[in-house]
Amino acid sequence: MKLLKLRVVNFRNYREAAIEPGPGVNLFLGPNGSGKSNLAEAVSCLSLGRGWRTREIAPLIRDGEKEALIEAKVEVGELRHDIELVFSKSGRRLLIDGHPAKRLADLFSLVSVFSYAPEDASFFKDAPSVRRSFLDIAISKRSEEYFSLVRTYAKLLDERNALLRAERVDELALDVMTERLAACAVPIDEHRKAFIEELEKGGIALLDRLRGAEKNAKLRYRPFLKEGTKDEALALFRRSRASDLEHRSTGVGVQREDFALVVDGLDIGVYGSQGENRLASIAFKLVPALLAEERRRPIVILDDAYSELDERRSDNLKGLLGELGQCFITATSFQYEGASRFDISDGTIVREE
Ligand SMILES: Nc1ncnc2c1ncn2[C@@H]1O[C@H](COP(=O)(O)OP(=O)(O)OP(=O)(O)O)[C@@H](O)[C@H]1O
Ligand SMILES: [Mg+2]
Repeated sequence: MKLLKLRVVNFRNYREAAIEPGPGVNLFLGPNGSGKSNLAEAVSCLSLGRGWRTREIAPLIRDGEKEALIEAKVEVGELRHDIELVFSKSGRRLLIDGHPAKRLADLFSLVSVFSYAPEDASFFKDAPSVRRSFLDIAISKRSEEYFSLVRTYAKLLDERNALLRAERVDELALDVMTERLAACAVPIDEHRKAFIEELEKGGIALLDRLRGAEKNAKLRYRPFLKEGTKDEALALFRRSRASDLEHRSTGVGVQREDFALVVDGLDIGVYGSQGENRLASIAFKLVPALLAEERRRPIVILDDAYSELDERRSDNLKGLLGELGQCFITATSFQYEGASRFDISDGTIVREE
């Protein structure tokens, strides 16, 4: 997958700017506050349909303007698509190949972008929901079935919680809902277990490579289900029923899962240094991009990933760039042979040859 053209109008600090990225490494270089991350965010909007630092639309629109526009041409396999994304006070408009798209999911399934930003440095320290959402996005990119399963599960969970909050609990409805939730949890559990296995293998190998040394590391994952059967899921939900009724919320399920990275016996999220956490976050966030088959290689963004790495780790990460598909690196300065380079200053972009 490649981004061939990108044009932004009144997006963040840009009045109007356009680039034609190269197929490999693209550099967004410039001083602090010039607009490097903003441009990278525009690239990521092409997959998520929203900003990466906020779910709100207003901050994406240039201060004082009414609308922001992101226009792009992307290549997916053999096909090229035009994307037009408009953010305005009244919401978001999305056109794919000139046709209005009803669901943001259409964009998500068309364009794949994986990003690492400074906020992700504490991936293993953050709340479990951050890691679950990473799992959900990464697995959804590979499996449409999973994508709809997690949405169904979230809906069923909301409905079950609503039943638990009712003045007088409808026990029969609660049984039916629990049954449906259990049935939905089973395939989610299956997908997650398979993915976690690949994530562990890929993430640890990558981390060793970036570090330039092997360490004894493993992912500690506590799945909701051990056997992975509907009977087991039902039994677990039933066991938690009294407590659920008391707390008026579903206390067990795949919505509670989490994983941790344990290095030499210590949870990196609890004991690891800043730099160790940064490197581990980069490694694990890159795994889905490296696992994807050649044809479906996502676009990768590394926003400020290099700034606090020591020389050896930084060189090791550089050595990996050639194995990614198209990627976008933001930095204040960066050398990479053969990269397409865009110099950014105060919302204007100059392409350097
Ligand atoms: N909606 C907006 N309207 C106008 N300016 C904005 C808007 N949103 C962000 N900015 C400005 O964009 C500027 C550039 O931000 P950006 O995060 O892209 O910088 P950067 O080049 O990545 O800097 P750093 O090297 O510090 O990471 C900031 O000064 C910010 O105030
Ligand atoms: Mg930045």
